[in-house]
Amino acid sequence: VNHLLGIKYLQEKDIQLIFETADHFKEVINRPIKKVPSLRDITIANLFFENSTRTKLSFELAEKRLSADVINFSAGQSSVKKGETLIDTVNNILSMKVDMVVMRHPNPGAGVFLSKHVKANIINAGDGAHEHPTQALLDSYSIRERLGDVAGKNVVIVGDILHSRVALSNIYALKLQGANVMVCGPKTLIPKYIGDLGVKVETNLRKALEWCDVANMLRVQNERMDISYFPSTREYTQQFGVNKALLDSLNKEITIMHPGPINRGVEITSDVADSKQAIILDQVQNGVAVRMAVIYLLAGKIKQ
Ligand code: CP
Repeated sequence: VNHLLGIKYLQEKDIQLIFETADHFKEVINRPIKKVPSLRDITIANLFFENSTRTKLSFELAEKRLSADVINFSAGQSSVKKGETLIDTVNNILSMKVDMVVMRHPNPGAGVFLSKHVKANIINAGDGAHEHPTQALLDSYSIRERLGDVAGKNVVIVGDILHSRVALSNIYALKLQGANVMVCGPKTLIPKYIGDLGVKVETNLRKALEWCDVANMLRVQNERMDISYFPSTREYTQQFGVNKALLDSLNKEITIMHPGPINRGVEITSDVADSKQAIILDQVQNGVAVRMAVIYLLAGKIKQ
């Protein structure tokens, strides 16, 4: 059984294989006929125990472009509400001859837990504040597309690092590819273990932007806060929000990224989010090809 549970479990060569495969699928989905018959014999269940727009629709589209059969499950409309466990839920779905499970879950480690208890290939679509591997892959793929390479680039991840699965997966992915990584945010939103991951820490946004080639702006995840980590949204925006005036005052043009959903006017102003410096919608577009590549490569292993 093969999984994509986190970037932590990948090697650099795995990422390069995913990117080369995604290059092919990106070309395919730009053709008038966007589908390939590769996975006609595969059935995939998308299990979302937490809200999603981009990841859920991107996985579904990737699966359909590969001609897989697809079933979708949202916990809110399911028998989870009647008390059914995660393992029972997944085993019931698997008994319908499902080959692969894509799962988003609010609990960190949910994918790893599931992989030990059920017989299916599992792709982690985000597990709490732990990992979001396909987001990190599409982020690096988008940097590679815009700047030619990830190796050697200075990338700062700005914002709520503590609650961000996007930050952790990006740190693993960027480091594997030889990028220099910095995190920037309020001290209260930077986890203590961050130094062990070999990343720089900066609490001054201007200094971080002066250092970087790429700034990945994160949302403050109020839904994961159980105490007040920072005084106010207004203060956060003043110290850690990017706006056009700040970017224009740098003597270079940096690439701006955001995994979405954006809180416009909080971590990023609209004049930046909608500018040519930002590759936010390119990230979303690339997500389909990158997820096609991940599913295709894992499914290939099912058939072996
Ligand atoms: N980037 C991302 O994971 O967005 P969604 O929560 O909408 O899937």
